[in-house]
Amino acid sequence: MVDKQRMSRLTSLLRRRGIVLPSFELYGGVSGLVDYGPVGATIKRRVMDTWIKHWLSIPNIVEVDSPTITPESVLIASGHVGEFNDKMSECRSCGSIFRSDHLLEDLHHSPENLEAIELDRLISDHRIKCSRCGESDWKEAVPMNLMFKTSIGAMGGSRTAYMRPETAQGMFMLFPALYRHFRQKMPFGAIQTGKGYRNEISPRQGMIRLREFNMAELEFFIDPELPPSTDLGKWQWEVCMIPDPEGDYAGEKNLKIKEAFETGIVKHPTVAWFLGMTAEFLEKVGVDLTKIRFRQHANSEMAHYASDCWDCELLGEHGWIEAVGIANRTCHDLESHQEKSGSKLLRGWREYDTPIREERESLKPVGSVIGPEFRERAADVSSAISDLQKMPESFPFELELSDGKRFVIEETMVQRSSENIVINGEYFTPHVIEPAFGIDRIIWHILDHNFLEMEKEGESYAILSLSSAVSPYDIAIFPLFDKDGMDVMAREIFSSIKSETGIIANLDTSGSIGRRYARADEIGTPWAATIDHQSLKDKTVTIRRRDDQKQIRVGVDSLIQTLYSNSLGTLF
Ligand code: ATP
Ligand code: GLY
Repeated sequence: MVDKQRMSRLTSLLRRRGIVLPSFELYGGVSGLVDYGPVGATIKRRVMDTWIKHWLSIPNIVEVDSPTITPESVLIASGHVGEFNDKMSECRSCGSIFRSDHLLEDLHHSPENLEAIELDRLISDHRIKCSRCGESDWKEAVPMNLMFKTSIGAMGGSRTAYMRPETAQGMFMLFPALYRHFRQKMPFGAIQTGKGYRNEISPRQGMIRLREFNMAELEFFIDPELPPSTDLGKWQWEVCMIPDPEGDYAGEKNLKIKEAFETGIVKHPTVAWFLGMTAEFLEKVGVDLTKIRFRQHANSEMAHYASDCWDCELLGEHGWIEAVGIANRTCHDLESHQEKSGSKLLRGWREYDTPIREERESLKPVGSVIGPEFRERAADVSSAISDLQKMPESFPFELELSDGKRFVIEETMVQRSSENIVINGEYFTPHVIEPAFGIDRIIWHILDHNFLEMEKEGESYAILSLSSAVSPYDIAIFPLFDKDGMDVMAREIFSSIKSETGIIANLDTSGSIGRRYARADEIGTPWAATIDHQSLKDKTVTIRRRDDQKQIRVGVDSLIQTLYSNSLGTLF
């Protein structure tokens, strides 16, 4: 149940404390674009860093980085130019435009899967009103491609391009380099983080539906005949799973990942492994595991590139929201890029255990007959004859060249020969399993799940109880008074902490100590060290723990050492 007031208190904290703010507000703002401010940018970077570390701890996964501007040819092959659409409906009365399925959200369980004609019928039957002008007079629903179009180069010679709607295509383009890097051995994976762009029709819900957003994707390339074995037993917790409502296992259930695979609910072992790895990551960054569920797409919902897809949905103030999509993309992308680009580099080679010996027949073109007969096409015809994989059943037969032209080949134009060959293996198109994470939606849920409200001394008090993996600072440094030597000592401690790799400290000197604790709690800083009069005498400081506000006194040297080993909690 959405608690609008809690959500608005959280949103206002995020804005006030420089965590997440609407972009370009000076000029009226643009919906679907947000800024991560002076505090939020570090939270975002730490979530990204944790994600990168999570995957790079696996030996056969590497990181890549490709352009966000993508030539049209790539996105035609991937299917995005033709199929990456949402339907929109325009109000005839005021001209406002809405996503057609959003107009029906309360009336249909999955309006996003409906055809335009069905959407129009339901909009009309239910006399849906325009939320701007209140009229119910709609134009027919039409598809809108969600990609931002651009062009590369100067006017005359420019090429059409798009801002990437997913980072995945860059990784498919890099398949040959990855295959070489991994010495032609599958499975292997590539991760990529960065911006994705979608011109969403009517973005609402703050960080949930953005027009420019942060993605983190992994493409895992496997030989479909040799799916890698995975240790699914390591996850002992149960998670809520909602299999395809049109399939054999329909109905919500709580299961361990291993059970979900062994019972056949999750069909592919690599998909099951990614479900486990996804939940493990989300827990690391502070998402509440009891607010996670995996929901399988019905066929009618599946993206154009997928054969199976599980959404990892998170429960928060917006209800259940997809934050990660785990899809079996099979050979869709690599096969389509092979076909459209003509490249032979998007294949893998599978060595046979035992080589196959075969007598193979082939045809050799007879130049003295083919030359005069086919003249300027003689060379093309000859090479097509040499490349024939299958012998013709009889003569004459029709030979088709790659440009579609056909030629009749008589028996006198070729010589038969046969040879004994050894076949060591075969080419195949690798399959791809992909977990695609939306970082902004994850950050929203981290903030939502860790936003704790309470009363303190008769006033409302808020804490962001962020995990130390993603908090904007590791520690706040407060001189009780910014004078009398406490100022100098605080700055010395700050500098020595700053020089230790990776630790982020926040020196805050303004306002009462109570206000400074409250500010640190609101932005999720897990620890604070206060330098007071006693510190000057005995070189100790007070350490305060955010979550229970307990305080202890420790020596400055031991503070720095324990901070360095990320074990301040052991002091309490
Ligand atoms: P939705 O159905 O909500 O539009 P989607 O199915 O199109 O999402 P995917 O194409 O699977 O989403 O994209 C992968 C991930 O990227 C999603 O799980 C989500 O976290 C994130 N994402 C997608 N679109 C947006 C957006 N407009 N703003 C923020 N994050 C997004
Ligand atoms: N790469 C998956 C997606 O963007 O949907």
